[in-house]
Amino acid sequence: MNILILGSGGREHALAWAIAQNPKCGALYVASGNAGIVAPARTVALDPCNGAQVVAFAKENAIDFIIIGPEAPLAAGVADITRAAGFLTFGPSAKAARIESSKAFTKELCDACGAPTAAYARFNRADLARAYIETHGAPIVVKADGLAAGKGVIVAMTKPEALEAIDDMFGGEFGEAGAEVVIEAFLTGEEASFFVLTDGVNALPVGTAQDHKRVGNGDTGPNTGGMGAYSPAPVMTTTVIDQTMTEIILPTIAEMARRGTPYQGVLFAGLMIEDGRAQLIEYNARFGDPETQVLMMRLGAQALDLLLACAKGQLDQITVQWADDHALTVVMANQGYPGAYDKGAKIGGLDRINADSNAMVFHAGTAAKEGAILATGGRVLSVTARGITLAQAQKRAYGMIDQIDWPTGFCRRDIGWRALEK
Ligand code: AMP
Ligand code: GLY
Repeated sequence: MNILILGSGGREHALAWAIAQNPKCGALYVASGNAGIVAPARTVALDPCNGAQVVAFAKENAIDFIIIGPEAPLAAGVADITRAAGFLTFGPSAKAARIESSKAFTKELCDACGAPTAAYARFNRADLARAYIETHGAPIVVKADGLAAGKGVIVAMTKPEALEAIDDMFGGEFGEAGAEVVIEAFLTGEEASFFVLTDGVNALPVGTAQDHKRVGNGDTGPNTGGMGAYSPAPVMTTTVIDQTMTEIILPTIAEMARRGTPYQGVLFAGLMIEDGRAQLIEYNARFGDPETQVLMMRLGAQALDLLLACAKGQLDQITVQWADDHALTVVMANQGYPGAYDKGAKIGGLDRINADSNAMVFHAGTAAKEGAILATGGRVLSVTARGITLAQAQKRAYGMIDQIDWPTGFCRRDIGWRALEK
């Protein structure tokens, strides 16, 4: 079958890498791709958020299956448009993707289905939001309602920080995304990412992972899109997974179906676990980045069968075949990220790395020019390895990093520390 993946990050490179290994995969296209995706797939210059362009390409190229990677095309209703045009599509409708595109929507959904989450209030006026913060004090969490490329959440440890966040959000720093603000109680515990495929009725967990959001070693510095991840996450014990399924995931899926907006795709729950109990921090309507890099390394070719079963409403007919393994990915970013950074530095040494089913460098912000690979984004490479133990995966990943010659790139040196400390 011919497959089109929308997106151009490390997540999409990992999806393409896994899917290309499945014998069912015929021609594989990624729009718009990067310098690494050209190995498993053909890259296509089309706008993933333009549903009409996607449909036209899919018709011309006899596409059988469309997989939507990032949140922007989902929020823009691209899955609705491709499905209406008759294409089998992996990813929720715009209405179902509200689970990520509106934080207020998700909080209210949790109320309706009884899913445990932080206490909250929502505001569309700065004076009322400020008064709420004056009453509740800090630490407290201020969130822009809409999509803000991962930057719309301020975990304020002091009252002045929280008030400043209110001023920024209502002052238009996040555009329309900040027209409404959710303020919620600060949760303590350990975070984990939990991924469940759902066809609207059935639910199939496809892995746990832990991300490293802060830019610096020891979880210091500003938040980023994610500087590294590993899977499985030991904090997600069988008991915590069962509780999460019973109290959070299944009630959410049932409530979305009851409202006439069934959710189809991957439901990515960001959880906070304390004393063996998970609470929902947020939902994403897509796979995580860089979590997908470790999930795909562990799932391999079966990823395509799983995504197909999900899109076809046949998740009750498939199971995940797990190896007893661990995967770890280290993100290499451009110096300056998550702030401003220079573009265009040459990355050397990639050809020294032997890629196989245990070791892969997934690309995010890269471009090829005259035979060289250039760093063109903030997060640039996801150096990913698999091992019998997490320590082995970590050693392999950093061994690969040490082969890479890119003086203006940087990475965290402690990815995996929480699990390795246990
Ligand atoms: P998000 O951009 O929505 O993934 O949120 C960014 C990060 O903010 C999360 O990964 C958490 O580390 C943190 N966060 C969000 N909500 C809360 C909360 N209620 N309590 C503590 N930390 C939170
Ligand atoms: N790594 C977190 C995310 O994809 O949102």
